[in-house]
Amino acid sequence: MKSKLRYYLFSILFILAAGAFLSNANWGEVIGNPLPFAFFLILFLGSTFLHIDIGKNSLLTLNDAVGFAAILSFGPTFGAGVFGIGMVFHIIWDRKAIFRRIVFLSIGITEFFVAGMIYFGVFGGSHGISDGALDVAYALIAGFSLWLIDRISAFALLEAAGLQTVPQFFQRLKPFAVSLPPLYIWGMGLAFVFTNSGYVFTLALTVPLLLVYAYFRSQKAYQDSLQDTVFSLTKTIDARDEYTGRHSESVARNAGLIARRIGFSEEEAAGLYEISLLHDIGKVGIRDNILLKHGKLDDDEWKIMRTHPIIGADLVGELRFLAGSADAIRHHHERWDGGGYPDGLRGEEIPLWARIIALCDAWDAMRTDRPYRKALSVEIALSEIENGSGKQFDPELVPFALEVFRAESDVVDEE
Ligand SMILES: [Fe+2]
Repeated sequence: MKSKLRYYLFSILFILAAGAFLSNANWGEVIGNPLPFAFFLILFLGSTFLHIDIGKNSLLTLNDAVGFAAILSFGPTFGAGVFGIGMVFHIIWDRKAIFRRIVFLSIGITEFFVAGMIYFGVFGGSHGISDGALDVAYALIAGFSLWLIDRISAFALLEAAGLQTVPQFFQRLKPFAVSLPPLYIWGMGLAFVFTNSGYVFTLALTVPLLLVYAYFRSQKAYQDSLQDTVFSLTKTIDARDEYTGRHSESVARNAGLIARRIGFSEEEAAGLYEISLLHDIGKVGIRDNILLKHGKLDDDEWKIMRTHPIIGADLVGELRFLAGSADAIRHHHERWDGGGYPDGLRGEEIPLWARIIALCDAWDAMRTDRPYRKALSVEIALSEIENGSGKQFDPELVPFALEVFRAESDVVDEE
């Protein structure tokens, strides 16, 4: 309740700030330059629709760079005007989350005015960065302040709305920190070329960037579709084997929880969660008469069953976005004492992620009914894990795993 109030308070403050800047704006910048204004507006709208999704609640768009170029070429009101009108078009276009979008529009207008005032007012920069190296430095500072206000304001809002925490804020700065400076530098180039060489050269400058963007977008779409395919495969395995239905998900959830408990970053924990979902993906390569056999497997059948970590690691190794984690899949049946498979690794030779998955895998296997036995009780399963410490499992991980498993059983008991 309290944070909701904070959210609306911040929102209204941002809208008021934008209103204050707009009512004190120098509209001559726009009225005196109708053709360039139309040109920048078209560029802005074109680039608004070329965005790359770099995570929840954060879209990286080329239009920031076009807006920045507009400020540097004609001044803060001109830039804020291009940005404001462009965004209004966009809001009307997809009519989603209108209030939030208006607040973000206000933040944008405010930061555009501030950046323009820093460049022209504080430093006395020239139009189109035409006065040499110092102008470039001023523009960089203005661009940096624009970015900083943007991130901090967005965080203030998202945090109040319960959509972002402090660690998530820092984690999401990273992709921005890599991709934003080149965009602003390109914006500076755009301003320089437009001011000194006119429309044709400016358009020529946008073409290569559009191509790069088109390439990144297609790459991302490709990776996304691969990811979707792989995760639907996981569901296929769980669906195929009635005794392990939801097994992958349970293993992944507990692995993520253990990871957080032992101090993994959010990003690492999420990575481990993803890979744990896929730990048994290699079972797609195991024939039904073995995978679904009621009763014990004979030696030959076991030999085949034991290839599933290798098949899984090979499969995942083909996917660029997961390839670095394929080892966690290959070794999820290794034992701390070296008696596991497929490679008989021991102790810390076994990748850490694989050691965590092994614990969660064993726990879930014990806690579910199998063709040849009923699920073990919480107490017995916990003591099995404890007894396996230093033999089957990493002794340093066991205490953390026990905490997670115990907490999970408490929740189940309460239900
Ligand atoms: Fe497995």
